[in-house]
Amino acid sequence: MKKYLVITMGCKLNENDSEKLCGMIEEMGYKQTENLEECDLVVFNTCCVRENAEERLFGKIGELKNIKEKRGTIIAIGGCMTQQKHIQEKIKKSYHYVDLVFGTHTLNKFREDLKRIEEENKKIRDVIDINGEVIEGLPIKRSDKYKASVTIMYGCNNFCTYCIVPYVRGRERSRKKEDILAEIKELAENGYKEITLLGQNVNSYDGGDNYKFSNLLYDVCKIEGIEIVRFISPHPKDFTDDVIKAIKENKKISRIIHLPLQSGSSNILKKMNRKYTKEQYLKLAEKMKKEIPDIVFSTDIIVGFPEETEEDFEHTLDVVRKINYEQIYMFIYSRRVGTVADKMENQIPEEIKHQRFERLKVLYDSKVSENNQKYIGKIEKILVDGTSKNNDNMLTGRNDTNKVIVFEGSKDLIGKIIKVKITEEHKWYLKGEI
Ligand code: SAH
Ligand code: SF4
Ligand code: F3S
Repeated sequence: MKKYLVITMGCKLNENDSEKLCGMIEEMGYKQTENLEECDLVVFNTCCVRENAEERLFGKIGELKNIKEKRGTIIAIGGCMTQQKHIQEKIKKSYHYVDLVFGTHTLNKFREDLKRIEEENKKIRDVIDINGEVIEGLPIKRSDKYKASVTIMYGCNNFCTYCIVPYVRGRERSRKKEDILAEIKELAENGYKEITLLGQNVNSYDGGDNYKFSNLLYDVCKIEGIEIVRFISPHPKDFTDDVIKAIKENKKISRIIHLPLQSGSSNILKKMNRKYTKEQYLKLAEKMKKEIPDIVFSTDIIVGFPEETEEDFEHTLDVVRKINYEQIYMFIYSRRVGTVADKMENQIPEEIKHQRFERLKVLYDSKVSENNQKYIGKIEKILVDGTSKNNDNMLTGRNDTNKVIVFEGSKDLIGKIIKVKITEEHKWYLKGEI
C-alpha cells in the first residue's frame, strides 16, 4: 500500500484543511505514516502569517530531495504560502522537482491533480487568485475522536495592515447554516462532544436572511450530544450584544472567549486598521464580564508594530494588567510582503522588538499562578482527553476555560465528560480529584 504524510503549519483553519486533505488522500488508497523515508506522497500545508515558516519549509523540501530520488516520492505544497507570487517563483527557480503546487482556493481539486501526477507524471501548478467557492462534502479524516473543528466561514475582509491572511485566503465566504448544522449533527451522532467553530472572523458570519453568528450559536447548542462549544477567532469590532446574549444564554458555550487585542495603544490600533480603540476594547470586556460573570479571556498581542513607541507599548502592558488574561499568544511583528505595514517607515529595530516581547512575557508569566488561584476548591466539568504524557496512571482533560487538568482515574473515562475538584495549581496545569 502507498504511504503518505501531511505536514501542517499554521492555524486551526489549516489543520481543518489538512483533515480534508487526509480524507481525500486516503480515499485514493494511501495509508498514513509518520516516517518520511517510506513516504510515496508528502504534502506540506503551509502558513505565511509570520516569516520563520519559510525557512522551515524550504529546509524540509531540500531534505526530501534525496528520498524522492530513491523512491520517486510525490511532493506537494499547498496552503497559504503558495498563494504568494514570490514563493511560486522561488519554487519554480530552486525547487522544480516539487510535483504539485496548489493554493487555498484549489484544495478541493487535490484528488484530480494527484491523479494526473500519478498517471501522467506531470508537474502541476494549480494556484488561482480568485475566491474559491465554498465546497461541501469533501471526505475528512478527523484527527480527534471527541473534539472536532468545523469551519463556518472562509477568508477575511478586514485587512489589518500587518496581516497577509486576506491576500492569501480571499474575501469572506460563509457556509450555509444547513451544511454546518448537518456536519455537527453527524459529529454528535458519532460520539463527538466538543465543537470549535472556525473562521478568521467568526462573528461576521453571514448565513443570509439575517441569520447571523448569534443565531448559529443557538442552533449549534441545541444539537443533542454536543456538550462544549468554542469558537475562534471573533473580532472585537463585531462582538455585538446578540453574540454576548447568546453566550450568556447557552451554558454549552465555553466561558473562555478569545478577544484578540493586538495592541493596547489606540494610536497603533488605528495604524493597524483594527477599527476599535483601547477604551472601546476595555469597555467591551467589562460589559461581557458584567453580563457573564464567570467569563475569562485569551488574546493575541503583537509587539513591535512599526512606529510603536515606549508609550504605546506601555498601553499594551496596561491592558494586560487590567484584563488578567487566562492565556496570551504573543507575537513579534513580522514584515509581510504586500501588506500596508511593510511599507511604513520607522520599522522597530529587532533588538527593541525582542526586549518588549520579553517584558510582556515576564508580566504575563507573573500573573499565571495568581490567576489560577480562583480554580482551587472549585468543581470543574472536563472532557477527558487521555492519559498524561509523563505518567500513564494519570488522566488529563480540559475544563471549560481550556485549562489542562491532571487527575487520577481509570482509562475508561477517556472521551467522557466528568466533574473534577481542583486541588493544586502548577502554573501551566491544575491538579484535581474526581
Ligand atoms: N483572524 C484572527 C487572527 C489570525 S492570525 C484575528 O484577527 O484575531 C493569528 C495572529 O497572528 C493574529 O491575531 C496576530 O496576533 C498574529 N499576526 C498576524 N500577522 C502578523 C504579523 N505580520 N506579525 C506578527 N504577528 C502577526
Ligand atoms: Fe488578519 Fe485582521 Fe483578518 Fe485576523 S482580522 S485574519 S488579523 S486581517
Ligand atoms: Fe497561517 Fe493561513 Fe492560518 S497564513 S495563520 S495558515 S490562514
